[in-house]
Parts: sequence; structure tokens; C-alpha cells
Amino acid sequence: MMQLPLSRRSLIVGSSALLARPALAAGRTPRQTEGPFYPVDWSGDIDSDLVRVQGVAADALGQVAQVMGRVLDARGNPVGDAIVEIWQCDAHGRYRHPGDVSLFGSARDQRFQGRGRAAVASDGSYRFRTIRPVAYSGRAPHIHFRVKRGGREVLTTQLYVAGDPLNERDGIYRREANRAALTAAFLPGEQGALAATFDIRLG
Ligand SMILES: [Fe+2]
Repeated sequence: MMQLPLSRRSLIVGSSALLARPALAAGRTPRQTEGPFYPVDWSGDIDSDLVRVQGVAADALGQVAQVMGRVLDARGNPVGDAIVEIWQCDAHGRYRHPGDVSLFGSARDQRFQGRGRAAVASDGSYRFRTIRPVAYSGRAPHIHFRVKRGGREVLTTQLYVAGDPLNERDGIYRREANRAALTAAFLPGEQGALAATFDIRLG
């Protein structure tokens, strides 16, 4: 645990507590489009650490972020048998997907795993180590999420970064009625990484 001066530490703890409350009060997590880049290749390293790819020496480019939360049912009870998948573009704005053809020639970051999959713990909790999402053509930074139970998709959505200036210019985000439920603060966390909490409430 990183040692912080008491005042700063309580500030951080205090602000995450404040931000956790509206998300819980916000009800069912809204569904959002999966977009064009749902991963087609789930072979190889698909674990919950997207910053490290097996067999690749260096970490991914970008700002490391721990993204964690719980999968809950409509009554707020933990769902202990869910699989959570995430996918997002790399620090260059490129998806690990054959359909993502760069117009500007930026190469994909081969050190970024691009997608990951995790089974929740019995208390419904999940945790990914990834990068703070970045913007790409027309989109505010976001991480795609899919929750599965019994091999079937039960929710597909996207997570946004609280306070990102591009949010208000993103058509998908702006059309969302319940933005609070899809928005998390990325705050300074342990070991120099950011930390974001995103609880997923199923209908
Ligand atoms: Fe996307």
C-alpha cells in the first residue's frame, strides 16, 4: 500500500466513497452497443492482466489502471458465477481486431493484450489490470464490458472515465440516459497505477 500523507489519503478514500454511492443508487447497469471490435481471437494470453502479454518482455504503453468492481443482481446481491470480459484500444487508439485498420499509420501496441477475461469470485468481485482508456476517432475513452453467465451473454456495455472532456462530445455517451451508472473516476491508486471501481448491476 502506497503511503500517503493522511490528508491526501482521506481525500482519496473520501472521494471514491462519494463516487461509489451514485453508482449503486443508479439501478441496473444500462446496455450499450458492443461496437465493431468485439474480439474475434480469444486464444493465447487472455487473462485479467492486459498490461502484460505472456512472452512479451515489456509492459503495454499507457497509464496502468486497476479496474475492479462487483457483479450484482437486481436486488444488489453478488452474482458469483459470472464471467467478465473487457476489450479496449491500446495507447495508440488501435483495437486488437482485424477490422481496425488505421488511417494514420499508427501501429498497434503489441505489448497490450487488448482483451481479457475473468471469472468473478464468490462475492461477485472482479479485477482487471489494464490501461486508462484513450480516445480514438469520434469516441471518448471507454472500456467495453461483457458479462456472461452459463456461457451466455447477459450484458454488454461500456465504461467511461469521469470528468473526461471528450465525454460530452461522444454521441453514444450523450444518448445514454443513465450516464452515472457507466462512469467511474480513475483515481490515484496503489503502486502508481490508477484505480477505478465499476459495479455491474444486472437486471
Ligand atoms: Fe470502442
